[in-house]
Amino acid sequence: MYRSHNCGELNASNINTEVTLAGWVQKSRDKGFMNWVDLRDRYGITQLIFDESRTDKTVFELAKTLGREFVIQVKGTVIEREAKNKNIPTGEIEILVSELTILNAALTPPFTIEDETDGGEDIRMKYRYLDIRRNPVKNSLLFRHKVAMEVRKYLSDLDFCEVETPYLIKSTPEGARDFVVPSRMNEGQFYALPQSPQTFKQLLMVGGMDKYFQIVKCFRDEDLRADRQPEFTQIDCEMAFVEQEDILNVFEGLTRHLLKEIKGIEVEKFPRITYDYAMKTYGNDKPDIRFGMKFGELNEFAQHKEFPVFNSAELVVGIAVPGAGNYTRKEIDGLIDWVKRPQVGASGMVYVKCNEDGTFKSSVDKFYDNDDLANWAKATEANPGDMIFVLSGPANKTRAQLSALRMELATRLGLRNPEEFAPLWVVDFPLLELDEESGRYHAMHHPFTSPKPEDMALLETEPGKVRANAYDMVLNGNEIGGGSIRIHDKATQQLMFKYLGFTEEEAKAQFGFLMDAFQFGAPPHGGLAFGLDRLVAILGGQETIRDFIAFPKNNSGRDVMIDAPSTIDESQLKELHIKIDSI
Ligand code: AMO
Repeated sequence: MYRSHNCGELNASNINTEVTLAGWVQKSRDKGFMNWVDLRDRYGITQLIFDESRTDKTVFELAKTLGREFVIQVKGTVIEREAKNKNIPTGEIEILVSELTILNAALTPPFTIEDETDGGEDIRMKYRYLDIRRNPVKNSLLFRHKVAMEVRKYLSDLDFCEVETPYLIKSTPEGARDFVVPSRMNEGQFYALPQSPQTFKQLLMVGGMDKYFQIVKCFRDEDLRADRQPEFTQIDCEMAFVEQEDILNVFEGLTRHLLKEIKGIEVEKFPRITYDYAMKTYGNDKPDIRFGMKFGELNEFAQHKEFPVFNSAELVVGIAVPGAGNYTRKEIDGLIDWVKRPQVGASGMVYVKCNEDGTFKSSVDKFYDNDDLANWAKATEANPGDMIFVLSGPANKTRAQLSALRMELATRLGLRNPEEFAPLWVVDFPLLELDEESGRYHAMHHPFTSPKPEDMALLETEPGKVRANAYDMVLNGNEIGGGSIRIHDKATQQLMFKYLGFTEEEAKAQFGFLMDAFQFGAPPHGGLAFGLDRLVAILGGQETIRDFIAFPKNNSGRDVMIDAPSTIDESQLKELHIKIDSI
């Protein structure tokens, strides 16, 4: 038996007990005649004591050879500590060691295994197994497990059945590139790794499974960001005989359950806003509503004067920044430079100080009088003491720029409190999105999403105006889930492929299996998928998903620990019928 207890559970009630512990040497303090060692495992730290006057000589000497991260086993007696440590559960006791076995020596780790480590990101990724020994990473993984368990419990209790779907499949379009796997047995042919189990979960509905979920890996070859990994995990869900309202209720219930069980927070019914409202009010389809700063459109109050920049703009739009009226000229110039950076791309910014006495001072006083500016203040819901920032230009671009500024200011003003949770639904997404480069429409969610029946007639005339039965769940400015009611009949699905520019043959070759299935009694169905990594990170008060993934990839999509991707043997390439000169 390696251990009778773990390193986190012994306390004063165990005094005089004989115990066996195993773990890693966190640190030792050798005072010559007395040697204390902190022994660590997943559960905590227990102090060991080697005392020249009470410990066997060989054990006492052996203890002096222990280095950081050595793996050891000790037998000893639990005794009361002289200098108690109130900060840890084992702080009242220590183990007077009688036997010591070194189970494995260790090299000195390349960074300190402490909560605040001296190791940079790269070195910690290379030695991720050492990083996992640190509390912040270990706790994130335990936290993730807890969330996943709650999800499984909640959905199982509602009769959802977890079904595994294959990883070696054919492309399922979710808007990213596929990772592909060459087939040895089928020369020149490739599997695609699923970007999501979308078509399979729909087939499970045709198969009568009624309520499906799966905590499942998805693979997308896309540019990486803090909230994106090339392989990530979804809580993927689908239900038969449902309307949008049913789906929203079930998964709002799940999210509310998680907030309550994991964070101890009760939230009201989630607000629902339309995509159009989100774009107009926040310039963003995943608005952070923990704070205000809603957009005020100013065209009608700004375009009748002699200011050419505003007169020629498609949109003039502003936000009122609470309490920013006292920003110095330097601070304002700094923000103007910030919006002019290429990442944001504004050409300039107008500002209006809302004085405490109800008057205004703006950078465009030459063109606008107090009454004009009072209208701007009304439209942006500005109060005395606020500062209004105004951008103008093409509508979509300007909204995106102001949205970036809104988020930046909220961060600077400390309005993005990670312990506050403001979930909402964004509904009525457009069905199609125009790709400016190709001039072609593609599905905004995916091609299996059902148009709103009342908008079907617009498909021929104004496809960009057709709304979908599609919805996203947004939490603190992040899209944590998205889904839709699906098309479940062959004719509509065929029509959709036609609008998306597929020829009949292409549609049949790629999705014939789905359209065939629709002919064998497909029930009405719909669903959604949460991004588990994102959900866990946000519940954990962070936005970078990497720390909640045991073995993540870096920003270039590499696993620097195992050094993947890597080249493969020539013989392996040959077996896969891949010519080296074609790479
Ligand atoms: P969607 O593409 O919106 O929908 O994905 C669902 C959720 O998955 C998360 N997500 C990601 N998380 C980390 N890294 C990524 N690269 C990444 N990409 C997406 C997001 C997102 O909201 N089949 C549909 C769902 C459906 O219609 O039921 C789908 O995959 O949180």
